[in-house]
Amino acid sequence: MTAEGGLPGSTYRLVAIAGDGVGPDVVAAAKAVLAAAGTRFGFGIGWADLVVGGAGIDSYGVAIRDEDLATCGAADAILLGAVGGPQWDDPRATVRPEQALFAMRGGLGLFANLRPVSVHPALVPASPLRPELLDGVDMLIVRELTGGLYFGSRSEASGAPGERAASDTLPYSEPEVARVARLAFELARGRRKRLTSVDKANVLATSRLWRTVVHEIAAEYPDVALDDRLVDACAMQLVTKPASFDVLVTENLFGDILSDEASVLAGSLGMLPSASIGTRRTAHGLHGLYEPIHGSAPDIAGQDLANPIGTVLSAAMLLRWSLGRADAADAVEAAVAGALGDGFRTADLWPRDPAAAERCTRVGTVGMAEAIVARIGITARSPGL
Ligand code: IPM
Ligand code: MG
Repeated sequence: MTAEGGLPGSTYRLVAIAGDGVGPDVVAAAKAVLAAAGTRFGFGIGWADLVVGGAGIDSYGVAIRDEDLATCGAADAILLGAVGGPQWDDPRATVRPEQALFAMRGGLGLFANLRPVSVHPALVPASPLRPELLDGVDMLIVRELTGGLYFGSRSEASGAPGERAASDTLPYSEPEVARVARLAFELARGRRKRLTSVDKANVLATSRLWRTVVHEIAAEYPDVALDDRLVDACAMQLVTKPASFDVLVTENLFGDILSDEASVLAGSLGMLPSASIGTRRTAHGLHGLYEPIHGSAPDIAGQDLANPIGTVLSAAMLLRWSLGRADAADAVEAAVAGALGDGFRTADLWPRDPAAAERCTRVGTVGMAEAIVARIGITARSPGL
């Protein structure tokens, strides 16, 4: 890792967690893109690579060590690939790769997970939805990330066979709802000024608290139009009228499920980035953790098949939110759009229509990274994958 005291503003300290499955493939691609952006815009990146997740369990016996969490906390931001895989999936295991995610989210105070969903025009044929439904889709899902069922107390199954029982609990406090609601209102204010709060207030006490608090906070944002949606109705509207949404804010598990559903709009789960942020600022911006929303896809790991765009766009969010480098973030996003516009496609994006496929070039993870790097504005440098 680059020592402190590097040229202010020109060398950033980032943590890379490649993790498991396709994590190393997509993180290598995003690092190459960030390096190219650094060359173009005149900044350097000092990387600390940490072994976390299933890889952490194999190396150290735990998903993440305390010292790794401290390294994450001291860095400007963290870029993560994916964690998990079948070899660590035994339901009786007490040590699980996903524990690393919860330790980082909770331990670093990253209470909001931002998942933007838009549709590149060239990928409209890759979505199973009719093209006219995708017109104008541009939403931001704000998922509460450190409360609810994920962090509530639970008891694992116990009892005699045939009578076993288990439980999970879904707690939310007013401050937990208020801080993520305020962030969502602020983000809506910078966009089309529409906020949809998603809950299950016809059943859940925590949803009724959620709705009450969100409406109280709405008084501070008279310029933002707020509406409520029950989560089941929202799930349907996401595929019947996806362009009707601007910003959505919702509790942890609902956000997890709805954002996977929304990824279908973008053509592939491999397209979507995410940023997990809190309120802590570094010298350059908000401290945060950036990762694609897809999982570790062990079946295609290490085969140069994974779509790196979700991770590359996560790196663009990192540049924008944590490093204050909107210039480089814009360039990375434009380079991704350029590569797609020029017909580069990983397997998950391959058009079903043969006529459309004829105009496309099939690439792997490395090829897509190269196509993106080539469009960042430097030509004389290999991406070094
Ligand atoms: C996500 C993932 C994680 C989650 C899993 C891997 C625990 O699905 O980030 O959406 O449920 O939060
Ligand atoms: Mg998920």
